[in-house]
Amino acid sequence: MLYPRIKLSEDIYWIGTNDRRTSLFENYWPLPNGVAYNSYLVLDEKVTLLDTVSMGTMDSYLEKLKEILNGRKIDYLVINHMEPDHSGAVKAIVNEYPEVKIIGNTKTFPMLEGFYGIHDNLIPVEDGSTLTTGRHTFQFFLTPMVHWPETMVTWDETDKILFSADAFGSFGTLDGGIFDDETNLEFYQEELRRYYSNIVGKYGLQVQKALDKVQGLDIKMIASTHGPIWRSNIPMILDLYRKWSSYQTEEGVVIVFGSMYGNTEKMAETIARAIAEEGIRNIRIFDVSKTHSSYIINDIWKYRGVILGSSAYNGGIFTPMRDLILELEHIMPKNHYLAIFGSMSWGGGGVRTLQKFAENIKWELVAEPIEVKHGPRPADIEKLMELGKAMARRLKADRTH
Ligand SMILES: Cc1cc2nc3c(=O)[nH]c(=O)nc-3n(C[C@H](O)[C@H](O)[C@H](O)COP(=O)(O)O)c2cc1C
Ligand SMILES: [Fe+2]
Ligand SMILES: [Fe+2]
Repeated sequence: MLYPRIKLSEDIYWIGTNDRRTSLFENYWPLPNGVAYNSYLVLDEKVTLLDTVSMGTMDSYLEKLKEILNGRKIDYLVINHMEPDHSGAVKAIVNEYPEVKIIGNTKTFPMLEGFYGIHDNLIPVEDGSTLTTGRHTFQFFLTPMVHWPETMVTWDETDKILFSADAFGSFGTLDGGIFDDETNLEFYQEELRRYYSNIVGKYGLQVQKALDKVQGLDIKMIASTHGPIWRSNIPMILDLYRKWSSYQTEEGVVIVFGSMYGNTEKMAETIARAIAEEGIRNIRIFDVSKTHSSYIINDIWKYRGVILGSSAYNGGIFTPMRDLILELEHIMPKNHYLAIFGSMSWGGGGVRTLQKFAENIKWELVAEPIEVKHGPRPADIEKLMELGKAMARRLKADRTH
């Protein structure tokens, strides 16, 4: 036996893989702690495989799968989500087990054909359809746009396990501990929110709808396709998803500056000091050239105040800041207070662009924009302190005690 048997119940096995090699998820989001692709095998009268793994970790996956199958064949492959981090091994599974019946919905199958040329042995399911494999009865719920159109979840009525695809997933590998109560959850808290905000965050409304669908189920376990399997902290993870998908934020300020030579950075420091003097404790300053937007967006999901500052650059805004605001306009988080500032030396362009951003994103502006020429003068410092205080006061006005 090469692989430990990791069981969710008497006949359901975790057969996921850890990816410590890929440095960028979706070739964009940093993976300093790696990522896990979770796949599950149900050895009932009929054998069911729930999702697969990324192509890069396929070898050990197939080895593990065969070892646990111990000569049995796979009857059903349920594809909850077609993104290649989970469908990467589907073609290999079909080659190895040509009789396997593939379960998906009408949005799944065109992708299956388009990505992998697979079009046989398909069993389409609808919202609420069921499948009995012996001891188990599975029910399928369509959860479109969490975060792809074909996304669905599979509910094991028998063992009360929700196979939730990417929902409730986290970045970070599973380092020995597979279940939430076998890990230090403090570590996953940050990676959970970073996964949510970066990958799923744009689809808050659809997440709410999906949560409503599973609301009435007596869930004993949530088995996502990334990160720990939830069994001891189910109310916590459900609450977090309610909170994040409804854009509830905490008291705190994320200040992001784009600065070539330090003038705009100086302004950011002044603003931060004023906020601290007003008694706000959660203040994070990011240099947009240095910190990947993945982490900035993660903190914006947490804190209500956002202050953006940029120098002017070739008639527009400093490029890394342009990228960040484009991304924010794309994801459109809600419930934030905004202030903007910047510096220029001739025709400007940084603050002008931030003003357009403010109009598009529709966050409440707590102060007039401040733009200085060259670098801040003592009179500017006072104005910047005022801007910081205005943000702090706006946040404190929300305090309930
Ligand atoms: C490559 C480059 C392009 C710039 N383009 C503009 C511009 O289009 N309009 C402007 O007002 N200032 C422009 N500036 C001047 C800076 O925006 C200005 O000096 C600002 O105070 C620099 O702030 P920083 O020290 O935070 O980088 C440019 C500076 C550089 C280095
Ligand atoms: Fe995905
Ligand atoms: Fe995924």
